[in-house]
Amino acid sequence: MLIALTGATGTVGGHVARLLAPRHRLRCLTRSPERASHLGVPGLAVGADLGDPASLRRALTGADALLVVTFDPLRDVHDAHLLTAARRAGVRHVVKLSALAVTDPRAQDAITRWQRACEERVRASGMSWTLLRPRAFMSNCLSWAETVRDGGVVRTLHGGSRNSCVDPGDVAAAAARALTGREYRGGTYALTGPDPLSAREQVAQLAEVLGRPVRHEELTEAEALRAWRSRYPAELARALLESADRQARGAKCGVHDGVREATGRKPGTFRAWARRHEAAFRTKSVEGAAPPAGVTATPSA
Ligand SMILES: NC(=O)c1ccc[n+]([C@@H]2O[C@H](COP(=O)([O-])OP(=O)(O)OC[C@H]3O[C@@H](n4cnc5c(N)ncnc54)[C@H](OP(=O)(O)O)[C@@H]3O)[C@@H](O)[C@H]2O)c1
Repeated sequence: MLIALTGATGTVGGHVARLLAPRHRLRCLTRSPERASHLGVPGLAVGADLGDPASLRRALTGADALLVVTFDPLRDVHDAHLLTAARRAGVRHVVKLSALAVTDPRAQDAITRWQRACEERVRASGMSWTLLRPRAFMSNCLSWAETVRDGGVVRTLHGGSRNSCVDPGDVAAAAARALTGREYRGGTYALTGPDPLSAREQVAQLAEVLGRPVRHEELTEAEALRAWRSRYPAELARALLESADRQARGAKCGVHDGVREATGRKPGTFRAWARRHEAAFRTKSVEGAAPPAGVTATPSA
């Protein structure tokens, strides 16, 4: 079976590549095959850009299944290009990395609306599909690594609000199964961790794992918005603020059984995730192991 992966140099796609490489042929789509090989991504790295339909068609020809990971809520043309190229290239099954927020009718921010629209495209694509809907990735906390290393501090908005965040390794395990097993076709999976946790609780667990104090400092809405505005267009910064506000109102506490349904195993805990990644909070990471300080990948879920 030939499986194509978008986002293979990123968090979930990279895990999926490592899980599937021993038993499947892989084509890892990336804008920079050299960087992919530098990062040690297994499989064949193929140059492709979501903004370039011809590159996508070339990269997908002959693939049986495709992991759909797209990144830019303000460029839904990327989703259209990818699905059109997949269908024309003869891909039969797509697994879409979406977000659990799509199931909340009160979530009307730009990021969630984009994920909903992409799910609709997938359903209408004519290919068989599986939809994976994770809550926030535990790995978003890697954006705290620099301030934890430098000053033993984490600053967030609504630090007492909880999110049933999920280990991206579990999301990847679900994706690997869905890409290769027929029984997942037509399925939607709500992927959460075992417990809703607040940033303050995560910080406390991180401190225990590191064996040294780490404190949480609360940001005001204005401070959080300013920080997001320095990295994202205004519409996305607003979407992140709305998302944080929904979390503060308890919208992201639900625990679902999707990890067990899709993988047959219990979802991993934050403490276990933190133990596996403690090095990033102690010493500066190599490229690819952690996102730049303060940046989390569209954490609207
Ligand atoms: N973070 C969360 O908490 C969370 C929760 C729920 C859902 N999600 C969803 O998960 C997805 C992100 O997954 P992730 O965090 O695993 O990804 P990620 O780590 O952010 O992946 C980044 C990768 O995107 C690739 N990329 C960016 N622009 C591209 C383009 N124009 N063409 C081709 N590749 C491009 C880059 O690959 P190259 O540089 O190699 O080209 C990069 O390695 C998003 O759809 C997000 O909404 C995230």
